[in-house]
Amino acid sequence: KMNAFIGDIMKKMTLDEKIGQLNLITSGMAITGTVTNNGVEANLKKGAIGGIFGLYGTQQVREMQELAIKNSRFKIPLIFGLDVIHGHRTIFPIPLGISTTWDMGLIEQSARIAAREATAEGLNWVFSPMVDIARDARWGRISEGSGEDPWYGGQVAQAMVKGYQGKSMTDADAVMACVKHFALYGAAEAGREYNTADMSKVAMYNYYMPPYKAAVDAGAGSFMSSFNVVDGVPATVNRWLLTDLLRKQWGFKGFVVSDYTALNEVTNHGLGDLQTVSALALKAGLDMDMVGEGFLSTLKKSLQEKKITQAEIDLACRRVLEAKYKLGLFANPYKSLDPAREKSEPMSEANRKAARTTAEHSFVLLKNDNQVLPLKKANSKIAVVGPLADNKRDMLGTWVIAGEWEKSVSVLEGIKNVVGNSSQITYAKGANITEDTAFMARLNFFGQQMVSIDKRSSDDLLEEAVKAAKKSDVIVAVVGESQSMSGESSSRADISIPESQQRMLKELAKLGKPLVIVLFNGRPLTLTWENEHASAILDVWAPGTEAGNAVGEVLFGNYNPSGKLTTTFPRSVGQIPLYYNHLNTGRPYTDGPAKFKSVYLDISNDPLYPFGYGLSYTKFSYTNLRLSKTKLKGNETLQATVTVTNTGGYAGEEVVQLYIGDPAASIARPVKELKGFQKLNFQPGERKDVTFNITPAQLKFYNSQLKYDWEAGDFIIQVGTSSSDVKTGRVNWAK
Ligand code: IFM
Repeated sequence: KMNAFIGDIMKKMTLDEKIGQLNLITSGMAITGTVTNNGVEANLKKGAIGGIFGLYGTQQVREMQELAIKNSRFKIPLIFGLDVIHGHRTIFPIPLGISTTWDMGLIEQSARIAAREATAEGLNWVFSPMVDIARDARWGRISEGSGEDPWYGGQVAQAMVKGYQGKSMTDADAVMACVKHFALYGAAEAGREYNTADMSKVAMYNYYMPPYKAAVDAGAGSFMSSFNVVDGVPATVNRWLLTDLLRKQWGFKGFVVSDYTALNEVTNHGLGDLQTVSALALKAGLDMDMVGEGFLSTLKKSLQEKKITQAEIDLACRRVLEAKYKLGLFANPYKSLDPAREKSEPMSEANRKAARTTAEHSFVLLKNDNQVLPLKKANSKIAVVGPLADNKRDMLGTWVIAGEWEKSVSVLEGIKNVVGNSSQITYAKGANITEDTAFMARLNFFGQQMVSIDKRSSDDLLEEAVKAAKKSDVIVAVVGESQSMSGESSSRADISIPESQQRMLKELAKLGKPLVIVLFNGRPLTLTWENEHASAILDVWAPGTEAGNAVGEVLFGNYNPSGKLTTTFPRSVGQIPLYYNHLNTGRPYTDGPAKFKSVYLDISNDPLYPFGYGLSYTKFSYTNLRLSKTKLKGNETLQATVTVTNTGGYAGEEVVQLYIGDPAASIARPVKELKGFQKLNFQPGERKDVTFNITPAQLKFYNSQLKYDWEAGDFIIQVGTSSSDVKTGRVNWAK
């Protein structure tokens, strides 16, 4: 039906009308480059625009849609997109934080709610999920993904796609997902934004491509090409990537949009002028050009000069029209424009509650000496200090275009909401977020100042915090990165807590009182001093609208933290890239003399906190890993069972993790790879036998010929509480 419908229109469309469909423009509300679009209304009337992003609100969307429909001979609707990344109005934790929940139900729900809110304001397309694997915490956009593990990243990608696209994309509350950034954007050299990515095909297929592929398998409707090169060819004009791999090998049926002016930037990559690179992009399989109007301004000429074919234009146009059809926009271009829902859906009580629950589940307890957490609710004196404590603006994290920071809950408010009058809270700011003026200037966003310095001197701020701390039984220091320190164009070479805040922490630590750090961060930070001197560290990422309430609930034990890291925390920037699923090397180091081993002279190889790590207020013991067989053949199933017991005093959830190592294969394989997990609830004293069913499908990898299969031999089966704390067994699996 769709084919016939679109075929019919396309027979009658002019060349200009077809090229117009390939043009995506920004309304000006989401600008992340130096170029923006002009003459929007005139272009709309001419049919020279296929979609708009950065515009929302039922009234505004209706006006634009009406303009398009009225002026289009075939009533071709516009598609309306936006960077809805971790919530639309109600903001959920940043994606890296959402990933540390290890709860696919919550993750899917966060995307579902984002879709409901976005559609309530007229949107039908979101530039999410971002599924780029990242092993380098210097890269600011590590905050937008699900960390370093390819299989886990795929699980999250699928949950998000399902949540966004709902039961059917024609539903009024469903949006089309746009998987980004295809591909390898997270492998930017030295973690520097927009930098070169370069790797072997084996690494690409095994460690970077799985989440994109998983999103295709989940039915994602669109993809966004990345800014970087892939195998030397910019992704936006890379035919191998956009056609051979994505479409022919993986069977993707949707359309591909470029990133913001990425097509124009191919000229900077050195592949020719705008006309040349636009032709290359079309031929490669790019269907829609974001902002730069390279397609709009050159394709006609290229066709006349026979540099491209009519069939190539038709194919791209067809894919864009198909997306609109799949969204039900031909049937009803106004399908989501319901002012009543626009009023009731965004920031509803239920949505805020879901955001709060998700945030609570995302916090990772990195340290908790002497069970200093949870804090006593009653009869205690608590100093709440730090530049992120009485702060609403920095609660939401990166990419919150429609997020309203004024409506977010600060940590100070959240703490007060939980303790009421039963304890004494003293607040002091203590420090500026940073005092490095060059750094501050780079954080500014189109003239908007993102971080400011307090009028009081830093000594006065510090003195006030020390005074508050001296009067208190416990110090809660709310510190870390502000909103603008991570996300796009936010690479950092030094990933420690900014110096002004460290100075405050060091003074407070001298008081010898319990020091609890509530850490805001869009990336792993180097926390060696903090790990040594703080009593407890609760990593809360950027928790979203309900930040303070979630922090309050967790600090005082109404929710027991259950998050586990999805990225490795290095001890030092010098260890980067540092990731758990590394190869063994020919000279691995375990213990004993380090000379002529793969080590540093001045630092251990170990991370500060490994992948999969996260404490709880209770304790879990793992005993008795048993394997149903030690010799297997062909398609048999192996059962690995471990007994997990809650040996502490609190009810809590534990993420039981399965890793497999493949020590003898035709290529060097990682020392271990995550292959399964179960997040389970335990009452105090409760014991559970936790079983993983393992089949050869989980042993597969891409070999040197890029053939995806498993190889017979020994396998190391590991089950545990983190990637570095496991019980181990060994099996032999024959073909
Ligand atoms: O979706 C984003 C992308 O992640 C980075 N560049 C801009 C796009 C649209 O805002």
